[in-house]
Amino acid sequence: MNGCMKSEFSRSVGWSVAVMSAMVAAVYFLVSTPVASQEEDATEGDRHAHEMTDVWDIARGGELYDNWMAVMEVDAPEGTHPAYPAAGKQEGPGTWRCKECHGWDYMGVEGGYSKGSHYTGIKGVRGVAGMEPEKIHDIIMNKTHAFTKEMMPHSAMEKLALFLSRGQIDVDQYIDRKTKAARGNAGRGAGFYQNICAVCHGFDGKTMNFGDDAAPEFVGTVAADNPWEALHKIRFGQPGVGMVALGVLPIQDLVDILAYAQTLPTE
Ligand code: HEC
Ligand code: HEC
Repeated sequence: MNGCMKSEFSRSVGWSVAVMSAMVAAVYFLVSTPVASQEEDATEGDRHAHEMTDVWDIARGGELYDNWMAVMEVDAPEGTHPAYPAAGKQEGPGTWRCKECHGWDYMGVEGGYSKGSHYTGIKGVRGVAGMEPEKIHDIIMNKTHAFTKEMMPHSAMEKLALFLSRGQIDVDQYIDRKTKAARGNAGRGAGFYQNICAVCHGFDGKTMNFGDDAAPEFVGTVAADNPWEALHKIRFGQPGVGMVALGVLPIQDLVDILAYAQTLPTE
């Protein structure tokens, strides 16, 4: 059809139009080729999607622990979580996040949330590290947690259990509880930071402001104020946005990145 039109035009209008139509055909070819190969990619992608590794599942579980609603792009259930204590200072959507009751350090009332505006008095999840994931399924879906199958699809719950069983770390080994200093080598972390993180956050960590103009929050701010949160996000990414998850690397590399992030400007 295209070729037919082309010869029709060349005969009646002349040489320059023939060249132009050839160019149009060439452009058409260039534009259409990527579409065809994208379709092939989709099939290839599907195949690989069924070969997701445990490493990836654990990383996704860690991200779900941070904020399963943002990962799954769903609205939070109505109101405050029924197990959230009435005396607690938080309310609404945030109270449905695992981290809100169990902490960034997985230690609940024994860790960073032992006091302050995130205090709930609820225990941590360190006790289930190493437990069979199937047993953790029952805990996540128990009455206290009030998650329905619609809120928490099986595939998400499985990843959470894998993370809790095999992806948790003993944070006190990597972050000094009193000074909040990462037990890492900032000089070594700089190389990782500049090659991986700076693409999105800038060399000074200030490209994106997670707070607002009045109370700015940068990579350096989070790393200094809440190194447990920063380490969790370095390992698993930021829910709902395209941040990399580096949990596949040795933990000490990530602690080194955290140590370097703690040298970045906080305001
Ligand atoms: C609103 C508060 C709240 C939220 C949100 C919450 N939990 Fe819990 N969780 C609890 C309470 C309360 C217990 C029971 C603690 C006890 O036995 O004293 C518990 C217990 C657990 C335990 C067992 C810990 C142990 O050692 O016995 C696990 C595992 C757990 N939760 C995982 C999760 C996961 C995963 C999420 C997110 C999908 C989550 N929780 C969200 C309140 C919460
Ligand atoms: C591909 C882009 C990308 C890369 C690479 C990346 N991030 Fe992020 N990061 C983001 C985005 C997007 C956000 C969310 C920004 C927002 O919420 O405003 C974010 C959020 C954060 C936050 C703030 C979380 C919060 O809300 O408290 C920290 C801390 C962070 N990143 C650290 C890092 C570190 C350290 C690295 C390198 C290991 C890194 N990021 C690599 C895109 C990236």
